[in-house]
Amino acid sequence: MQKWFEDAKLGIFIHYGIYAVDGVAESWSFYNGRMSYEDYMKQLDGFTASKFDADAWADLIEKSGAKYAVLTTKHHDGVALWDTQHSHLNTVKKTPAARDIVKQYADAITEKGLRLGFYFSLIDWSHPDYPSVYEGGNVPEDPASANRFSSPVDGIQDESRWEKFLEFNNRQLEELLTGYGKVDLLWFDGDWERSAEQWNLPHFKHYLKSFQPEIIINSRLQGHGDYKTPEQGLPITRPEGPWEFCTTINGSWGYVPADEHYKSLHQIVRMFCDCISMGGNMLLDIGPKEDGTIDERQEAILLGLGSWIRAHEEAVYGTKEGVMSRYYGDGSTLSADEKTLYLFVHGDPKESICMKGLCNEIQKVSVLHSGKPLTYDIHGGVPWFQIPGTTWIHLTREDTHELTTVIKLEFAEKVNMYGGSGAVVTHN
Ligand code: GLC
Repeated sequence: MQKWFEDAKLGIFIHYGIYAVDGVAESWSFYNGRMSYEDYMKQLDGFTASKFDADAWADLIEKSGAKYAVLTTKHHDGVALWDTQHSHLNTVKKTPAARDIVKQYADAITEKGLRLGFYFSLIDWSHPDYPSVYEGGNVPEDPASANRFSSPVDGIQDESRWEKFLEFNNRQLEELLTGYGKVDLLWFDGDWERSAEQWNLPHFKHYLKSFQPEIIINSRLQGHGDYKTPEQGLPITRPEGPWEFCTTINGSWGYVPADEHYKSLHQIVRMFCDCISMGGNMLLDIGPKEDGTIDERQEAILLGLGSWIRAHEEAVYGTKEGVMSRYYGDGSTLSADEKTLYLFVHGDPKESICMKGLCNEIQKVSVLHSGKPLTYDIHGGVPWFQIPGTTWIHLTREDTHELTTVIKLEFAEKVNMYGGSGAVVTHN
């Protein structure tokens, strides 16, 4: 895994597409029959990108504190946001926007010094050759029950059409990986409708890396990706290896004005702290309007998160996952040298916060955003059995940040936590 990714902590996901015209769910709305394919595709005529300003996006993303961005270059609907030569279904040829959105996005993101990510749907529910085979080649008992956009409904598989689709897929990916400068991250989606064998893995991955040797590929590649992508529900157990939690700000990936179910800024900050406490990144999604502007509520969340991160930078970038939540409940991170522990405090403490199992002697405790030193007490502990007491750090409401407060604990040595079950104290 590339170090930049593990150090970055925050990325911004952008679901931009023709679905913003009617404000409906991306691709799924026709696949699930909530609207006809024809009506869905009529949105092509309304996609103007008339106020699309890639520099403004890059500026907002940088202000959010994110170090990378991931744009939907093509969602499951098959509409490419770049000037692809392999299909007419793209924003240059088929929409009044008549421009290569990916190009402008890539230039602006790269210019800002952010890492460039492309979301690419392996599923293409518009391509005539895509619904030619079933997952793993297994014909279902009732072929007619298959969804016509993803599988043949007559029970007949056509391998040669599938090969044609793979060729098309490879050509489109080649365009993305060769025409837009350095691409840092490829975010696949929709691998689930075919098996690893059908996607021609691992050969397919080698093919992609031949264009961009340092590229990171997410896990949605039938077991061949570089990191895990839990979605919408925060992990409770730390996922194994590198990971990134993707989430929406309201409940929708794309622009759905009817969806008013927004998370608050504090909730977003807490979710972010939860991710980095467990060694993960957060990929926070925005869904721009069809004209390319961003809903002010989403913009406010990005700016708010950014100013929280700026006030707490050393607890965020380049840190490692913190101590387990049984030592401290609200989450924490550790500096790279493991000699500084950052505790997140989400609520208003009454008089103190409590940390268990800490074996190190504390050199200094302070509130990160204000630098104010704090006092603490240690109660209990059995030093001759190496069982530490409980550390009570004195903290009241006046010392807290308006969102999440960070308490900085400094030690002379690497942090050392007690993991035992306690003992009967003899030799008192
Ligand atoms: C799901 C959905 C898709 C969305 C993605 C984002 O896989 O299919 O619509 O783009 O999640 O993580």
